Amino acid sequence: MKKSVLLLLALVYSIGELEFVNCRIPDTPVTVRPCPGVESKATLVAVFIGSCTEAPCIFRKGQNVTMEMDIDFHQTVNRLQAELYALVFGAPVKWDGVNPEGCDDIVSIGECPLEAGDYITYGVDLYVSPSYPTVTADVRYQLLDENGDTQICWIVRAQVRPA
Ligand SMILES: *[C@@H]1O[C@H](CO)[C@@H](O)[C@H](O)[C@H]1NC(C)=O
Repeated sequence: MKKSVLLLLALVYSIGELEFVNCRIPDTPVTVRPCPGVESKATLVAVFIGSCTEAPCIFRKGQNVTMEMDIDFHQTVNRLQAELYALVFGAPVKWDGVNPEGCDDIVSIGECPLEAGDYITYGVDLYVSPSYPTVTADVRYQLLDENGDTQICWIVRAQVRPA
């Protein structure tokens, strides 16, 4: 490659990095747990939850938590249905406000239908309603495909706190 092309690439890359710092994208992944008894068809490469680096992640009421995941797909997927639950005493309670059409929330290059080998970043702002109870609970995030198969499922401990 020519030097000028490399320089241009370096420039484009560094502008990207700057935006990376200024925008909403967090940079340290957090360790999440796989959902017990569930076989995820896609590979979860990394999850970012705001500035959380270690569970429990703090969710402040009245604020958004930026959540992103990097996912590697191994088959064709036409639809991603996003579902988020808080597990209160083991029972799933649906978390409102998540766009169920996960394909709309691909923030990297890529769109549905996804193909085997596609690597995408999915990102959403999770609004923590002030009406949520102040609890520490497991939060379960899942992306189901058009057949109802689980592409991604993980659990993280979260602490809902007053604003
Ligand atoms: C939360 O995120 C949504 C969607 O990005 C945005 O419309 C809303 O203004 C945000 N709310 C707060 C409190 O930041």
